[in-house]
Amino acid sequence: MWPRIWPYPRVLAHRGGGTLAPENTYAGLRCGMQAGFRAIEFDVMLARDGVPVVMHDPGLGRTVKGSGSVFEHDAGDLAAMDAGAWFAPAFAGEPVPLFTEFARLCKEQGVWMNIEIKPAPGFEAETGAAVAALAAQLFAAELAAADMARVPLLSSFSDVALASARLAAPQLPRACLISALGPDWALRARALDAVAIHTNHQHLGPEMARAVKDGGFGLFCYTVNDPGRARTLLDWGVDAFCTDRIDLIGPDFA
Ligand code: G3P
Ligand code: MG
Repeated sequence: MWPRIWPYPRVLAHRGGGTLAPENTYAGLRCGMQAGFRAIEFDVMLARDGVPVVMHDPGLGRTVKGSGSVFEHDAGDLAAMDAGAWFAPAFAGEPVPLFTEFARLCKEQGVWMNIEIKPAPGFEAETGAAVAALAAQLFAAELAAADMARVPLLSSFSDVALASARLAAPQLPRACLISALGPDWALRARALDAVAIHTNHQHLGPEMARAVKDGGFGLFCYTVNDPGRARTLLDWGVDAFCTDRIDLIGPDFA
């Protein structure tokens, strides 16, 4: 449907601002941008009312004060919760972003997005469909113009979420998140018509990197925090990676 290449930036700020700001927040996005990044990865899941929010954990407690699950709260309630104080007092009051507002801001600022669909268990299909439909709506003009380098890339560990995303918005590119690539990685990727494989660099070797590239897929690694390791991965043919250490690995790292 679209060329299996990597037309996107090489280095992405993980969860917005890596380890320099609270993850998956507007402050994180600003921090990444201040470091020169115009490409980020972030995580999205559904609130109780079916509205997607930018969050990594399905439970409150680590990054957001409170207890229970994200899907026990409506998005408006989550947006009023504090997602910054855990990181540092200076970030107190930082809201949980609503996905559509966050994505719109990224787009306005020219920040390319790898949107990780992070469904709560049991909500895989709903999450994939909701995120894909909203992203396709936001990028309708770019999709119509086949301006694919600007269009976000959806990724997920959940094949169900990706299949559902394909059904909701077939024109949006998808990537399979697979921690360690087993014998079935290409079958899974082809079944989902994925353009790229996103994998944990700690389990990747040069032969597997070559196999992914020879298979015609983009190859992305998470989460690479050592410049020497980043250089090795690029030498193996890895197309891109995300990093938490945006202070050590800049957007123009080559
Ligand atoms: O999308 C890459 C990476 O973010 C996947 O793992 O747990 O950091 O969301 P996680
Ligand atoms: Mg992620």
